[in-house]
Amino acid sequence: MRKITVIGTGYVGLVSGTCFAEVGNRVICCDVDQRKIDLLNDGVIPIYEPGLEEMALRNKSEGRLLFTTEVGEAIEASDIVYIAVGTPMSETGEADMRYVMSAAKKIGEHLNDHKIIVNKSTVPVGTGELVREVVQANKKYPWTSFDVVSNPEFLREGTALSDCMNMDRAIIGSDNPEAAEQIAQLHAPFNTRIFKTDLESAEMIKYAANTFLATKISFINAIANICEKVGADVEDVAKGMGMDSRIGEKFLQAGIGYGGSCFPKDTYALAHIADKSGYDFELLKSVIKTNQRQRYVVMDKLRETLGGLAGKQIAVLGLAFKPNTDDMREAPSLTIIPELLKQGAVVRTFDPIAAEAARKLLPADVAYMESAELAAAGCDACVILTEWNEVLTMDLAKVRDRMKQPIIIDGRNSFDPKVMEQHGFVYYSVGRRP
Ligand code: UGA
Repeated sequence: MRKITVIGTGYVGLVSGTCFAEVGNRVICCDVDQRKIDLLNDGVIPIYEPGLEEMALRNKSEGRLLFTTEVGEAIEASDIVYIAVGTPMSETGEADMRYVMSAAKKIGEHLNDHKIIVNKSTVPVGTGELVREVVQANKKYPWTSFDVVSNPEFLREGTALSDCMNMDRAIIGSDNPEAAEQIAQLHAPFNTRIFKTDLESAEMIKYAANTFLATKISFINAIANICEKVGADVEDVAKGMGMDSRIGEKFLQAGIGYGGSCFPKDTYALAHIADKSGYDFELLKSVIKTNQRQRYVVMDKLRETLGGLAGKQIAVLGLAFKPNTDDMREAPSLTIIPELLKQGAVVRTFDPIAAEAARKLLPADVAYMESAELAAAGCDACVILTEWNEVLTMDLAKVRDRMKQPIIIDGRNSFDPKVMEQHGFVYYSVGRRP
């Protein structure tokens, strides 16, 4: 059993803290946000992630998982301190390091014994060293020592618990082999591959991995757009490409482009890091641009099919950036719905989980319905933006009968075009033959 403190109860901090507790460690999750900590202490998990509530509350009731705003006390009570605070995108596109630096300062002020400080937040290369300097400069007890380790997070929203409990790999960056070994041992129960490297390389691995995945998505989306013009089918193209083990079949799902809290932010941040280092990362800039343009593929198809959008009633199915999350950050719906309204359409939406979160971000004249079938009623077209199970299993006959015109524009390639045709829909997806 190790004594761990996790600073930051956002997505990464809460999931990692819960998983560390689940395998028998005593974990204190802390945050400066009193409201969040009060909710957690009242048994309310502030984010939607399948399985998290059950696992967190069980570990809490068994005394292994604690929540507090007393960040200093939590640091003093642990020998491993994880920094898992946010690194949001600043106005310039760089990662905003404010929260990481204030966590490092706090750690320095409360360094009462030797501790291993582990960075889990996604941070620019060189942050580990910066953390070291800030901790050193703020040390209250000059005799205390510490190590800095980088241990980036690779979990995906919606499948975060299983990603964490059965992680593909643990990347551990440190210049002290002993500290690296201790963090490696912490990961032993997760039955994962451990890769030890230096601090800077570990920090770079996180950005390079996310950027590479984003590149795969933009690449297949570009191929999809060409497929439409030359009469090929992107699903077969992706399948055929993916059969080459050097390419792999994953992350070749064409659609309306990537969203979420990670790929958009990390691609911008790496482009910035590259610029700063004097390298013009043209490839990455194109990946970002391709992704931005991809959002409009759905709009173009709608406009062409309906001959303009003014006065048309459109059902938008799915608002979250992907299924099984209520996360609306960089969700395509946030670009597409305001654009639909701007062009004069009336918008009715359905999302099984993210509707509440969306309400705070979308214009007031958007309607939120209880099901896909209700959202589709009376509409000129349905647009699928998130492949929720509730959308994949909607009653197609009911949807068709209730719609004014049976037109579906599917931004996620969720249905078989032949099946849709049999159901009497005019069905368009991305990069596939109608
Ligand atoms: C991503 C990475 O997959 C995680 O490994 C990483 O830890 C995380 O970012 C992070 O940096 O914290 P996440 O953003 O939760 O995870 O979601 P993904 O499943 O990767 O999907 C990202 C976006 O890409 C979604 O909008 C999804 O719809 C889109 N996507 C994904 C595609 O358009 N096509 C694909 O083939 C795959």
